[in-house]
Amino acid sequence: MTTATLQIDGQRIELPLMKGSLGPDVIDTRTLGSQGHFTYDPGFLSTASCSSSITYIDGDQGLLYYRGYPIEQLAEGSDFLEAAYLLWHGELPDAEEKTTFDTLVSKHSMLHDQMLSLYKGFRRDAHPMAVMVSIIGAMAAFYPESSDVADPRQREISMFRLLAKVPTVAAWSYKYNKGEPFIYPRNDLGYAANFLHMLHATPCESHEPSPVLAKALDRIFLLHADHEQNASTSTVRMAGSSYANPFACIAAGTACLWGPLHGGANEAVLTMLAEIGDVSRIGDFVNRAKDKTSGFRLMGFGHRVYKNMDPRAAIMRQACYEVLDELGLHDDPVFKMALKLEQIALEDEYFIKKKLYPNVDFYSGIVLRALGIPTSMFTAIFALARTAGWIAQWNEMVASPGHKIARPRQLYTGLQRREFVPLSER
Ligand code: SDX
Repeated sequence: MTTATLQIDGQRIELPLMKGSLGPDVIDTRTLGSQGHFTYDPGFLSTASCSSSITYIDGDQGLLYYRGYPIEQLAEGSDFLEAAYLLWHGELPDAEEKTTFDTLVSKHSMLHDQMLSLYKGFRRDAHPMAVMVSIIGAMAAFYPESSDVADPRQREISMFRLLAKVPTVAAWSYKYNKGEPFIYPRNDLGYAANFLHMLHATPCESHEPSPVLAKALDRIFLLHADHEQNASTSTVRMAGSSYANPFACIAAGTACLWGPLHGGANEAVLTMLAEIGDVSRIGDFVNRAKDKTSGFRLMGFGHRVYKNMDPRAAIMRQACYEVLDELGLHDDPVFKMALKLEQIALEDEYFIKKKLYPNVDFYSGIVLRALGIPTSMFTAIFALARTAGWIAQWNEMVASPGHKIARPRQLYTGLQRREFVPLSER
């Protein structure tokens, strides 16, 4: 076995190296604690939190594989539910398996009728992500049997319920914002078309989504389905490591994804492009992003792992062209500004040196906006899609032999022991 050697105060510690099927070897530091040492890596920049066979990313080459299949090939030839099946089961479904899976998802897309009253407790202007965190977490109260996470059958039922219901939860949070009645899912529509139907139909008028736009949205779902151990997936694993209820774990992941440094970036990109306002002002904003004291960052640029183009961004840029073409919005000023911003940033020394490329969030907001989806719903859509990856990663962790609850240690920087002072003496 290959080992790494640590020399600490004359103490020689041999740590085994572990090899994956792709990517860098890892140093197995599990025994360090018992030898009186911890590693220190607050942002997990150099830490593998788990082993997983679901998704692989190569940040230098800009690669993304779901169960070994390149994202470009899946985006071209697959659809979101097939990708969800692949992430979950590890293999692409055959025709019969696909039909069974899609039908099961379709037939579980309604919410428990009493959940409707949960929405009514919110103000009308409640952010869809606040609603999603609440409603998804509340599902644990409607399906108490789901807490038996040791039972594979219960895990499977919860995974189907989450995959099937999250579009309804998201669409209804939008309808509630608009003050329109909730539109029920239709079992005769595909996953993405059903979501567009629930968003845009009313009791007075049906909505038949264009197949091109439904396909574009489905591809956006597929591109966002999973992404290794990102912050929200790590949150789901952390919550799930205590054997918490799966709905509570996915609610925790949804909460984490909401942050503007993570899934909230797609909404922040549109806000930033609106603030830039005109191509002539792009240079000022790029300079602000380079100025550390400004606290401003170019939303949609940079990534913890990708130090090359995020492969999803390139596919998303293509989707922009197709959707805007389909809608006759060739001269969409926001898209043109985004293209110009990308070009300027990629030619700028600062961005080149720090390897800051457009990430998945840079173009997704522009496509979603073109699909008639309000900015407030962008992160909710990211959460809808990432639910597929979260449930696959959660299941892999809960089912793994030798599972342990996550319990990091710390570098303590507080005060040494001191004696309590009674109030009368303070
Ligand atoms: C997602 O992890 C995932 O896989 C996430 C995701 C997924 O699918 O789950 O891919 C989805 O979250 C995509 C990222 C969306 N976020 C944004 O677009 C927000 C803007 N980007 C950043 O804030 C930043 O790039 C992060 C948060 C994405 C990455 O942060 P890191 O890895 O902690 O990098 P960092 O903040 O330490 O930045 C490294 C350097 C810094 O400069 P120095 O301190 O080294 O001098 O690059 C600079 C940063 O100041 N930098 C930027 C920048 N991003 C990083 N400068 C200007 N604009 C930016 N966007």
